[in-house]
Amino acid sequence: MLGIETSCDETAASVVDLADGRLRVRSNAIGSQVDVHAPYGGVVPELASRAHLERLLPVIRQACDEAGASLDSLHAVAVGHRPGLIGSLLVGTSAAKALAWSLGVPFLGVDHVAAHLAAALLDQPPIPFPATGLVVSGGHTALFRMLDPLSIVPLARTPDDAVGEAFDKGATILGLPYPGGPEIDRLAEHGKDDAVRFPVPRMDFSFSGLKTALLYEVRGVPPSPRNSAGAVGAMTAPASETPSMVMPSMPATPKVPPLDDRRRADLAASYQRALVGAVVRGLRRELERAEAADERPQAIVVGGGVAANRRLRAELEAFASARSVPLRLPPMRYCVDNAAMIAGLGALRAARGEHDPLDLTAQPLSSLR
Ligand code: KG4
Ligand code: ZN
Repeated sequence: MLGIETSCDETAASVVDLADGRLRVRSNAIGSQVDVHAPYGGVVPELASRAHLERLLPVIRQACDEAGASLDSLHAVAVGHRPGLIGSLLVGTSAAKALAWSLGVPFLGVDHVAAHLAAALLDQPPIPFPATGLVVSGGHTALFRMLDPLSIVPLARTPDDAVGEAFDKGATILGLPYPGGPEIDRLAEHGKDDAVRFPVPRMDFSFSGLKTALLYEVRGVPPSPRNSAGAVGAMTAPASETPSMVMPSMPATPKVPPLDDRRRADLAASYQRALVGAVVRGLRRELERAEAADERPQAIVVGGGVAANRRLRAELEAFASARSVPLRLPPMRYCVDNAAMIAGLGALRAARGEHDPLDLTAQPLSSLR
């Protein structure tokens, strides 16, 4: 199975085999676009589609070469056709259809979010089902009940920002380069995670309040009708950058400490602790619900870019072992966007005799909603 992934800012292709129920990754090629988007501090959709167009064929060639697979030897072509940036998805979807048609092999479109969960099956033993699935990425933070890798029922998702988005925007507030999640992960190692006590979000998987709290730690609480007396002069940012959301219950900060290296590392560690704590809390509450409903999962399956976060991995390991539930985390290279997870899920579908028509279209939203 050749898999193609172009949903956001990674152009990826991979060849995966399915034998004896095991998914074996034969190649995993990624043409990163970090250099294209870094100057803008985030992904620019138009630039992403153009960069996919330039990188895709060389990346497919690389994936086939590394796998030692000729195009003729491919049994099928799978693509992540949803969700994502529509222009980016169209590049991969069109290429996958054209390749499948010209080779005379089946074409399959798979859901990128479901593929993040299938990543936990790559190069690893089978998982016992039913499982609780947790996707933590730049676009999604959601829980699922997985009857198997192809039968996935959505349970809950973030009411506001995805956790990866909270990592990335938090990194921007701290003046760290894009992409920010791995930067916070690295910097947090050098900081004190109890230097700042961030509030515990009231809703499960809600991260936008934590992001605002970090902003206020860095720039001070902006003046408002309720707290203006103490806050005048507290903002270190220009008025044009004043955040629109104000927490009335927060006391005005008369003065914020300077954002030197030590403070930046302390804030990164404390913020990461709060984000990870909020993810684990959401998972714990779902497990409690499932146990009360007599639906205890056989395993916890985690996927998505934020699953590469070292603190999250460690806390999830501790959580799962305390509850005696097997935990399946993908290897780091299959957490962030990649095409092996697309090929893997495609291979599982193809093994059931499934394929899709060539008029299948790219879709901005996931089917798992
Ligand atoms: O799954 P992914 O590659 O793309 C989406 O489907 O969104 O996830 C990307 C997200 C970004 O927000 C990135 O900052 C975050 O995953 N990320 C991390 C780490 N590595 C990637 N966040 C925290 N710690 C990391 N080590
Ligand atoms: Zn992703």
